[in-house]
Parts: sequence; C-alpha cells; structure tokens
Amino acid sequence: MKIAVVGTGYVGLVTGTCFAETGNHVTCIDIDEKKVEKLKNKVMPIYEPGLDLLFERNIKQGRLEFTTSLSEGIKGAKIIFLALPTPPGEDGSADLKYILGVANDLGPLLEEYTVIVDKSTVPVGTAEKVTANIKKGANVDFDVVSNPEFLREGVALDDFMKPDRVVIGTSSDRAKKIMDDLYAPLVRQGNPIIVMDEKSAELTKYAANSFLATKITFMNEIANMCELVGADVDAVRKGVGTDSRIGKRFLFAGIGYGGSCFPKDVQALAKSAKEVNYDFEILTAVMNKNESQKMKLIDRIKTHYNGDLSGKTFAVWGLAFKPYTDDIREAPSLLNIQELLAAGAKIKTYDPEAMENVKEVFGDQIEFCNDEYDAAQNADALLIMTEWPVFRTPDFAKLDGALKSKLIFDGRNLYNTETMAELGYTYHSIGRATING
Ligand code: UDX
Repeated sequence: MKIAVVGTGYVGLVTGTCFAETGNHVTCIDIDEKKVEKLKNKVMPIYEPGLDLLFERNIKQGRLEFTTSLSEGIKGAKIIFLALPTPPGEDGSADLKYILGVANDLGPLLEEYTVIVDKSTVPVGTAEKVTANIKKGANVDFDVVSNPEFLREGVALDDFMKPDRVVIGTSSDRAKKIMDDLYAPLVRQGNPIIVMDEKSAELTKYAANSFLATKITFMNEIANMCELVGADVDAVRKGVGTDSRIGKRFLFAGIGYGGSCFPKDVQALAKSAKEVNYDFEILTAVMNKNESQKMKLIDRIKTHYNGDLSGKTFAVWGLAFKPYTDDIREAPSLLNIQELLAAGAKIKTYDPEAMENVKEVFGDQIEFCNDEYDAAQNADALLIMTEWPVFRTPDFAKLDGALKSKLIFDGRNLYNTETMAELGYTYHSIGRATING
C-alpha cells in the first residue's frame, strides 16, 4: 500500500518507518527543508533505540522516502497520516493550526478516494474540523479517521509493532477496511483493533494519558504520606499492585512525570472539559501535585544545607525525562537545575543521551561530564533525576572517592535503603525512610 505521513517528528518518523518495515511504500513529508535533506541522507534526527536500523534498511530498499512537497508526497497514497505537532496554546488547549492548515492544503490535491488519519493527539471534534477543511477544496470522496498513537518513547518500536490495541475512530466501512488491512501485520498476536466513532477515539487518547498521569500522581501522594507516617512506598506499591484491578505498572513514585505527552494532554483534557462547562477537578489536582512533586528534592536539599546552597556543587545524574531517550521536554531535571543555579550552587552533570539538548538550555552555566563518576568528582552531593540503568549499580567505592561527602538525593528510588545504610550514606529518596539524615 502507498502511504504518506505528514510531519517527521517523533510520531511521524516512527509511524513512517514502521509501516515501511511492514512492506508499505511510505513518503514522509515535512516543511523543514534542512530536516528533509538530512533524512534523505539517512541522518536520523531523534534518538530512539533500534529506529535507525529500520530507517536505513527501508530507505535502502526504496520503501521509505522524504520530501518537502505535499503534492508530490501524497501522490498515489491510499492513506495520509497527519502526525503534526499540537502544542499547548496560551490557554492550555491544543493548538490545531498545523493540522488544520495541512487539511486546507490537502483538499484540492486529492485525486482519488483517500483516508486521512489524525495520528496526533487532538481534542474531541478535530476529525470534524479536519473533514470540513478538506471538504472546502476536495473534488473526490475521502474519510477522516482518528487513530491515536499510544507508543512510549524509548520503547517506541516495540509499542508500535506490538501494540496492546489499535484504536480506529471512523463511521465509514470503507475506511475501516483499509485501516484493518494496514494494521493486520501488527495485531497478529491477537491484540485487538477497536473500532469506534471519531469522538470516542479522540477522547480515548486523552483518557489513557490522563489516567496514567493520575495513577503516577496518586502514588506520589502515597509516597508523601509514607514519609509522614513512617511507611515504605515500595512495600505499599507491591501490596496494591498485586491487585489485578490496579496492576503492577505505572506505580513508581518519583519526582513527577514529564515528557511531551502527559503534561500537555492532562492540561488539554482539563481545558476541553472547561469548554463544555465541566470541572474535571481531579485533573487540576494532578497538575498541581505534579508541579510540587518536581520540587520535592530541592526542598530537602535546602533543608539539609539550612537554606544556603551558595558555593555548593551538585552532581546531577540523568537529564532526560526518562531513560532511553534524549527527550528533555518537561523533564524534572531542568526545573531542579534551574532552582539550584538560582540558589548559587554549581552543577556537574552526566546523561548518556540528553546532554546535547540540555546544552541548548543551560549552555556553559553547567558542566557537562564524560561519565557519572566524572560528574561526581568533588561534588558536595549527588542528585539522581533519571533512572538510566547505568546509574542503578554504581561502583560505590569509586563514587565514595569522587564525592566530597556521602550524600545522595535520589528522585527515582534506585537503591535499597538497607544497602545505603550499610554503605554509610546519607540517603534521601521518595516515600521511604531517610537514611542517616
Ligand atoms: C506516554 C504514554 O505512556 C504513551 O502511551 C503516549 O503515547 C505518550 O505518553 P511517554 O511520554 O513516552 O509515553 O513516557 P512514559 O513511559 O509513559 O512516562 C511518562 C512519565 O511518567 C515519565 O516522566 C516517567 O518518569 C513517569 N513515570 C512513569 C513515573 O513517574 N512513574 C511510573 O511508574 C511510570
């Protein structure tokens, strides 16, 4: 099948590459000429484990192409995916200018029946708006389908190729059949394709992300309670997670969720609710709590140093919003570093993938190091922001030798508290007893 993907961001590139991998001919379209030039030269602009291999193979085999021209790119395409950004506008609602702009341009370019797919996360009612915009200029039949993407960064290929489910929002049998054929190779293991109306599909994506963000926030609240009453959040997590109605995943307390999806989607769902005069109270609480949770370790650090951080040096391990990505959007690390710098502290940091992106934010205000021990060298304390596997089992003898004092503020609960007690560390973590504090 011939497919076009408009937008070569994270979702667009994964979607395009993976559908090429399942044997389709895919043309990815982007207005950014420099980016398209790079893609044509097989330069992958994002870090996602395994993606570059598939990307190179499919380009080589002629199944994956790139262009800046919408009219050229969509020629002969049976399906056109819109994988365009929907950034939050000033009021928190998703800004649809890119999607609706392309929808306007598409109408007159369609030459035969085409399925146009909203892949981006878009508010309820967007499929209707996209349909109206295309209709203005179209002379042929078309259907607009909502097909939200649920992949997680860092494990995107696995999530895309073996999705828990595929949600297709359409009331057209013709479009449904085409989408079924496209997704057939990805649901062979029996995972369902769930077909529903467009609005329900659009809301499903927001509901899933907001539910997950709420789940994490709930555990962060439990962690805060644990600290106050002397309980241990790891034990509580195991205790509740074994209830199959709750499930074991997404119950890890920490310094708040970040990334390109949860913060934006929770905000957008709250805003959509407001537009229909519904006060989605729980979402307001989730957003507020997540912001305060991001600052949790800063409060502890300030208390530890009696409010005076001037001249102190902190080693920061991890910058990305989560492991296996170089993405720093809404990463708790940024806020923490900003606060420490404002309080007069110095920062030495290491992240396996995200340092280049953070250089663009802080420049030479902070020191970027070659590895985790280099970052810890002569630091007064260690602050852990991302649970990269390499930080989970450090050589503590080497770390002891590097740090000025055995002091760790761990935002990701990487170490066993008993071990830290044995090693003689002052160890702060989330929702567990502070060791030697
Ligand atoms: C998320 C959704 O999972 C995905 O379905 C959707 O398509 C896009 O948004 P992603 O943003 O890539 O994916 O990251 P995810 O792995 O879901 O983590 C989001 C945030 O939650 C991270 O900041 C992570 O550190 C945090 N998190 C996750 C926790 O704090 N605790 C947990 O138990 C799980």
